[in-house]
Amino acid sequence: MASFPVKRTLSADYKAQSAESAFERARLSVFKANTFKNARVLKLPWQLQNPEKREVYFTKNRKMFEILWTLLAIASVKALDNGLALTPPMGWLAWQRFRCLTDCITYPDECISENLFKAMADRMSSDGYLEAGYEYVIIDDCWASKERDNDSRLQPDPARFPGGIKNLSDYIHSKGLKFGIYADYGTHTCAGYPGSIDYLKIDAQTFAEWGVDYLKLDGCYADVETMPEGYGEMGQYLNETGRPIVYSCSQPAYQEPKGINPNYTKLAETCNLWRNWDDIDDAWSNVTNILGWFSSNQDRIASFSGPGHWNDPDMVGISANAECGHIRRLLDSVDRITGTNSSTMRVSLDEDYYIHDSLLLGNFGLSYEQSKAQMAIWAILAAPLLMSVDLRTIDPIFRDILQNKDVIAINQDPMGVQGRLVLTKSTIDIWTKPITPHIEGSDSYAIGVLSNRVDGYPYRLNFTLLELNLTHIYGYTIKDVYDPSSEPRDVDIDQLIFVRVKPSGVVLLTATPNSAINVSLII
Ligand code: GLA
Repeated sequence: MASFPVKRTLSADYKAQSAESAFERARLSVFKANTFKNARVLKLPWQLQNPEKREVYFTKNRKMFEILWTLLAIASVKALDNGLALTPPMGWLAWQRFRCLTDCITYPDECISENLFKAMADRMSSDGYLEAGYEYVIIDDCWASKERDNDSRLQPDPARFPGGIKNLSDYIHSKGLKFGIYADYGTHTCAGYPGSIDYLKIDAQTFAEWGVDYLKLDGCYADVETMPEGYGEMGQYLNETGRPIVYSCSQPAYQEPKGINPNYTKLAETCNLWRNWDDIDDAWSNVTNILGWFSSNQDRIASFSGPGHWNDPDMVGISANAECGHIRRLLDSVDRITGTNSSTMRVSLDEDYYIHDSLLLGNFGLSYEQSKAQMAIWAILAAPLLMSVDLRTIDPIFRDILQNKDVIAINQDPMGVQGRLVLTKSTIDIWTKPITPHIEGSDSYAIGVLSNRVDGYPYRLNFTLLELNLTHIYGYTIKDVYDPSSEPRDVDIDQLIFVRVKPSGVVLLTATPNSAINVSLII
């Protein structure tokens, strides 16, 4: 009798299954051998003389070629070499929550002003966000004066930024944070402020002098045709300043809707991140639209995302403020007790709430479950985590979602692989993302089970890891990320996993490969 070192204590159940698992392993090796055998049957295209046969060949083996092209694309992606954004950037960006609110007389606490950004910086450093990894405080549109100064330099609106941008940047840096700003490649910003088209070099230099660490360069009022060159030029000017500046390019968000396929290889050499698609709003339908676009286009775009260069589905729209969160929770409890669904009532209630509280932003918010879901799938997508929420009034339950360290770890995983939608069952989407650690040649995975159902109760879904293309022969240890008190479970790859997913909610799991040396073998 010999026993191998045991690092992990195996349950009696698992040991009882070991004979069965040995059988399973044999079955899998037959499965793999067959797969290889089939692969060898494939003829090379140039062996087929007849063009019709060649056509049929390509159609039949389309999937294989898609994978091949993707692998070639990964091998050929050259990243922008400024050493920045090696994991998806994390920070706070004003737009979704504060838009272009410039009336500081009526809305002194919410208008786009130095006070707003200082207040957010204070919260970032005092309320745990910086510690959780959020480091950039980024101004969006509507900060500038309508005219450039006598030297053609951008200048901030004097009434709203009386201390000037350098001063604000110093303040943000003094909090241990980094500072970001917004400009536009075209003649005007989307909200009508001065654009950079004729001033790219001057603006790059101005931003560097102001201590900018992150630039979002939007693309309103611009010729889409000249964007590839123009965004490249701005990247060059930023590099020439010698200041490390994360460069966020909105170029694809203006090309994709026009049916132009952006040159993502070039973008990855020029920009640290790029908005691919539509603006996000604080509404679930909008989040799902963006996810729909990302999943439909994943084979084309996912491989271009990686350390230093990221696809960006836009901000994290968790934006319920404290009072609103209380109202929602109250209604949740009423629903639970009475078995009703007050969501229609909620829309008008939220509308009234915002009108009475002067938040005229059309910002109706995501529910608690939807906020968890957005955070989970943004983590799986390796998306930049740019919060757009009033950090002064956020309900702690939403703050906890934003600061959940296990979800952030998935997003910030050093491999930087963008996850994909791999399976849809019963109107529920399952997304996976390879993450560390690798064990005996297999990646770990994050698994996001996202319900698109509207039938009002937690739906019980089952799936196997094999269905998600997780093939580690010794199985995986599964953990529920949003329920850290639940016990990790050992699961064989063809064993059914059951989860209950709330409507427009998520179950987020990690699956770590079990190590062969941790399995005790008795001979
Ligand atoms: C565009 C961008 C948004 C925001 C606004 C500002 O719509 O996509 O993210 O920057 O402009 O005007």
